[in-house]
Amino acid sequence: MLVRLIYASHAADGLTPAVLDTILQQSRSHNQAHGITGVLCFGGSAFVQVLEGERSAVSALYNRIVSDARHERVELLDFSEIIERQFSGWTMGQVNLGKVNPSILLRYLPRAEFDPYACSSQAILRLVDELIATAAINK
Ligand SMILES: Cc1cc2nc3c(=O)[nH]c(=O)nc-3n(C[C@H](O)[C@H](O)[C@H](O)COP(=O)(O)O)c2cc1C
Repeated sequence: MLVRLIYASHAADGLTPAVLDTILQQSRSHNQAHGITGVLCFGGSAFVQVLEGERSAVSALYNRIVSDARHERVELLDFSEIIERQFSGWTMGQVNLGKVNPSILLRYLPRAEFDPYACSSQAILRLVDELIATAAINK
């Protein structure tokens, strides 16, 4: 049975682009091996990640991610059973929301800046959908 999990978090001090690259590399090899797909969005110093996959695999991964010292204030936004995946082509897509047109952010967020704690999980999914449609996501 498939589930989708969405959380928001805040990058720890000193999170450099190199650290982010390491996280993405780790994620892609682990996720491929465990049938997990999704997207990691970052902007300012915030993260939001969508994880999809088998319920026990997603739960186990989330428990590891929550205790990762490279971020803090991890807040669960959604955990739902799903019929189908939305990101089946991505072992972990990446979106740099600092580079997205502010008017797209403003459509889904109270301000044209990325604050996932102020955003519903439905709005996050729509935003990511729109970014996929405009090819703003890297595999
Ligand atoms: C924002 C963020 C997102 C992450 N996403 C994933 C992911 O999708 N898949 C993954 O395997 N690890 C991810 N990690 C890394 C895990 O927290 C953990 O370091 C990694 O799975 C290795 O765990 P281990 O040292 O217990 O083997 C992420 C870490 C951070 C900070």
